[in-house]
Formats: sequence, C-alpha cells, structure tokens
Amino acid sequence: MSSLRRFLLYFAQENIEFRYPEIKSLIQLFNLEIKLPNSFGETPYWILDDVDEQDVRKIASRSVSLRYIVEVFSSGKNYKSFHENLKNFSISDLSKKYASADSSFRITVDTYNKRIEHAEKIQRIESLDYIDYKGKIDLKNPENNFIYFEYWGLDPTNVPEEPVEIIFGRWISDGQRDITKSISLKTRKFIGNTSMNPLLSLLMANQGLCDKNHIVFDPFAGTGSILIAAAKFGSFVIGSDIDYLMLHGRTKPSRVRQKVREEDENIKSNMIQYNLQHLYVDIFVSDFSNCPLNDAIEFDSIITDPPYGIREKMAQVVPKEGGRKSTVLTEDAKHYPSTSNYSINSMYGDLLNFAAKHLKLHGRLVCWFPVNRDDYHEELLPRHSAFQIIANSEQKLNGDATRRLLTYEKVKESGEIVDVDALETFDFRQKYFTQATNIKEKRLATHHRNIIEAQKRGKIIENLAERKKLSNKKFHLDNEHSDK
Ligand SMILES: C[S@@+](CC[C@H](N)C(=O)[O-])C[C@H]1O[C@@H](n2cnc3c(N)ncnc32)[C@H](O)[C@@H]1O
Repeated sequence: MSSLRRFLLYFAQENIEFRYPEIKSLIQLFNLEIKLPNSFGETPYWILDDVDEQDVRKIASRSVSLRYIVEVFSSGKNYKSFHENLKNFSISDLSKKYASADSSFRITVDTYNKRIEHAEKIQRIESLDYIDYKGKIDLKNPENNFIYFEYWGLDPTNVPEEPVEIIFGRWISDGQRDITKSISLKTRKFIGNTSMNPLLSLLMANQGLCDKNHIVFDPFAGTGSILIAAAKFGSFVIGSDIDYLMLHGRTKPSRVRQKVREEDENIKSNMIQYNLQHLYVDIFVSDFSNCPLNDAIEFDSIITDPPYGIREKMAQVVPKEGGRKSTVLTEDAKHYPSTSNYSINSMYGDLLNFAAKHLKLHGRLVCWFPVNRDDYHEELLPRHSAFQIIANSEQKLNGDATRRLLTYEKVKESGEIVDVDALETFDFRQKYFTQATNIKEKRLATHHRNIIEAQKRGKIIENLAERKKLSNKKFHLDNEHSDK
C-alpha cells in the first residue's frame, strides 16, 4: 500500500494572504516533494492528495497559520455522498487499524461558520456508527483522535441549508499557533510601542527560512521581536538600531501602568526569559545608512521591519560640517549625533544593496513595505537585479494605508547596485497622516452632530469639554446644526 495519502490542512482564518507563502516556504525549508496548486482561494482549509504523512508533520512542526492536520478518510459535498464515500473507504482496514479493542479513541466534531449544539454533535457522531469501534473512549488522551469537520461556507450572513463540505479523518498534528502565546507581548519583559506582533514575527521567520545554526540579522531591531521569532526556530540572531535608548531598554515604558523601566529590561533579558540566550549573538547601535559591518560577514536571512515614520522616526546620521571629529562615548560624556530624515526610497535602496552584499546565495530578505492602497502597483516595489520577489502579502493598517510583507530571494552573487533616485517616489507618511486627520475630522463632526441632535431632543449637555468642542468654529457643520 502506498504511503502517500490525503490530508486536510485546516488554518486559522486570519492573515489569509500569508498562509500560502508560509506553507510554500516550509516546503522549501524541508525540501519536500509537495506541489501546491497556484491558489486555494479563501477557504480555511486545503486538501492535499498523494502526500507523505512525515512531510505534513514537518509542515505542522513549523506553521503558525495552521490549526491542525487530518488524514482524510472521506469527504463529500453533502451528507449522502460523504457517508457513501466513507463506507467505500476501506472501512474494515480503518476499524482494524485505528479502532481495535486494544486502542483508545475520541471523535471531535468541528464546524466552520456554524455553531452546532452538543446534541447535534452527538447526532453527527452517531451517524458514523457503521465504523466498528472496539476500543475504549478516552476524551482526554486518546491514541486516535478522529475529526468530523463540517464547512458551512465563508459568509456568516448567508449560511447555507446544508454544509458545503463534510470531512472525516484522523488527527495527525496541530500547527504551532501556541508559540505565539508563549512569546506574547503581554507577558514579555521588554516591549515598546513598535514591538512586532508575535504571530507576524513568526510568519516572517518562516518566510525567512530560519533554521538551526542559521545567522539572522535585523538592522532595524527596535525591541528585538523579530530576533525572538528567529531564535524560536533555532537561528542565531544579531540586531542593530539607530536608537541607543530603544535598543538598551531605556526609552519611556510603553505599558500603561508602568512608570519606570526595570534595570534589566532589554533584548537580552527577553532572550533569557524565553530560554533563548544561547542564540543571542549581539546587538549594536548603528545607523543603517552607514552600517559598519565588515564586507565578509554573511547572513542566512535578513528579516526586518524598517521605520515608516508613523510610530518611530526615520532618521539617519548626518556628518558634521568641517569633517568628522572623534567622539568618545563614556557614561558622563554621551554623544547624540545630529540626524536628518531618512527617505523611504533611500532606506529600501540601502536595504537591497546591503542584502546583496551580506546575504548568502539563496538567502532571503524579508521586510515590510508601506503603501497606500490607491497608489499600489507592483512596479512600485523596490527591486534589485540580485533578487527575486517570491512573496508579497498585504496587511491592512488604517483606512487606505497598508503594508506588504515582501520576501526576496538572492538569486545571484552580485547585481547592479540600486540607484535609489531611480526608485519611484511616493510619500506614504504624508498620505497616512492626511488620511488619519480626515478620519479624525469626520469622526468629530459626527460626534458634534449627535450632540446637537441630542440637545434638540432636550438633552442637557453637562460636560464642559463637550460644550467647548461644540463652540469650536473649526468644524463646519451645516446651518441647521449650528450651536444656537
Ligand atoms: C518599526 S521599528 C522596528 C520594531 C521592531 N521590529 C520591534 O519589534 O520592536 C523601526 C526601528 O528602526 C529604527 N531606525 C530608524 N532609523 C534607523 C536607521 N537609520 N538605522 C537603524 N535603525 C533605524 C527605529 O529606531 C526603530 O526602532
């Protein structure tokens, strides 16, 4: 009998665009023979045929998009065909192999887009009574966990009469979604305003093919969230940032009730908190536009979230007029260099040129790139002749503002240096703030209108601040809404 079988990969329905590139990256990381179709649409699950169980287990050992994997015994587009297919599946084999007297089992009923009551779940389990279970039921720790899954479409406002697909099989493995809890920002020792969400950091680390004994660099490390994700997958990590105070945990605390930072709040303490200190190589203060790393240093991946000027400054150090003076940094003589704005074009140009020099061949550069939805077209993305863009997934931010997670693979040793002036110019920051102001103004105008309507209905507005706002002439309300 072939060891190739049919598997259901059931995903969490969030960051949907990131799912396909993540699984494709894992297939490459483990060098698996699995061929994926070009797209699976938005359904929360995929069915893969002719796949080895060991291969899907490898995917599950790393994927953070994946909820669980099931070996499929039967699927059908309605109850009748589902049960027929299950009966036609070598049911006696199944009973012998997984439901024998000396084994224990459980059946879990799971649904998507429809909640069903406990009694209905029991009824679904009883509908499978032609499977000859001889083993003991064990709800806590069974040897075989069977999954009965009903998919009720994607639209919660239009749930069909019958499920769109019914699937039954044997649970193989969960994905790694629990890692996100283990590195949650809520319990992390050192965080800041820009700390990257754990799930996205882990997705980036998977996109970057992080692995044991790899060396990963984040040149805009901030509080080091990406370094944690890369280390979680076994890579040695190095980070740099222009902001000494940020890098060493000396900025204002970002937790609401925290007044001062603890002595040892820093990236290294986070690594110790997660027992990853053996993978922490170093962090250093550096302006990326003039990164001091020796040309011979090579990384397996560069994974980073550069600044877009929204929550953090995009700055670069400018040389002083009249040449460079030597500066000694001591506790009592701190040196704060002058900085100027670092344009998005220069930054991404520098990033690609740096990666062309410091990444090993086939190494990956994974980075976020901010864009306004209206302005987006693929030609806008920064390119370099040494790199191919192999994944590009969008995450919505605010209004029309989005950012795209770009994954580049270094495909040749040298390439033309990016001419940053030739990159298409766009002003994400300017647009982001204009848009945000518009949204805020609209919200305020609506708020005022509501107060005036309430006053017309006889409600007395006690709050002084509310009244002050009402008399604020900055907001042009209709005549009928004017405050008389
Ligand atoms: C979006 S934040 C990175 C956040 C980080 N991923 C984390 O989890 O905390 C961008 C970082 O780039 C740094 N930065 C800004 N300009 C820089 C430059 N010229 N060179 C190096 N770092 C810079 C900022 O200090 C900030 O910490």
